[in-house]
Amino acid sequence: MPGRRRVAVLISGAGSNMAALIAAGQAADAPFEVVLVISNNPDAGGLAIAEAAGIPALTIDHRPYGKDRAAHEQAIAAMLDEYGVEVVAMAGYMRLLTPWLVSRWAGRMLNIHPSLLPLYPGLDPHARAIAAGDSEAGCTVHLVTEGVDEGPILGQARVPVQGDDTPETLADRVRLAEHALYPAVLSEFCAVRTDRPD
Ligand code: GRF
Repeated sequence: MPGRRRVAVLISGAGSNMAALIAAGQAADAPFEVVLVISNNPDAGGLAIAEAAGIPALTIDHRPYGKDRAAHEQAIAAMLDEYGVEVVAMAGYMRLLTPWLVSRWAGRMLNIHPSLLPLYPGLDPHARAIAAGDSEAGCTVHLVTEGVDEGPILGQARVPVQGDDTPETLADRVRLAEHALYPAVLSEFCAVRTDRPD
């Protein structure tokens, strides 16, 4: 069997999805391994978690680049190349990407969003689900395209919305589902790639 797909995880915050991906990638039969974590936020809690797991964890702070988003992305892309990354998993990465980075990684960049897309792309999906009176919420893993949270859907998981839910309690329930969904979808994605004759 060819080697495992080399995955980078992009984060901005707590990194609980990143931690789930790192753990899954350490299983003996995993079709991928997390080889790099990049945060745009030097205070992201996920950085310490990655370091504790022995994964290179880089901060590429967007602030010194000011409005030059392309230059920030070029710095990220250079690190992805340097580490031989084959698949990028965005996990709570809170920067919009330019078409340049999206096209460079087209078909090889995944994201997780805490709603049942196409419902509630963008911000505050939990509050919007509650306000709409939905009985179900969930999360979606999709390929990244230029539109925000618009790419082809690779997998979804559903959770109930309870009558007394706040956006915070619903987010907690959805996040648990995310931690199961994202490793499963990434594994399937990487296994399919690994099985291809090319
Ligand atoms: C998750 O809910 C993810 O779906 C969203 O941002 C959150 C990140 O949480 N894009 P964490 O940093 O993985 O804990």
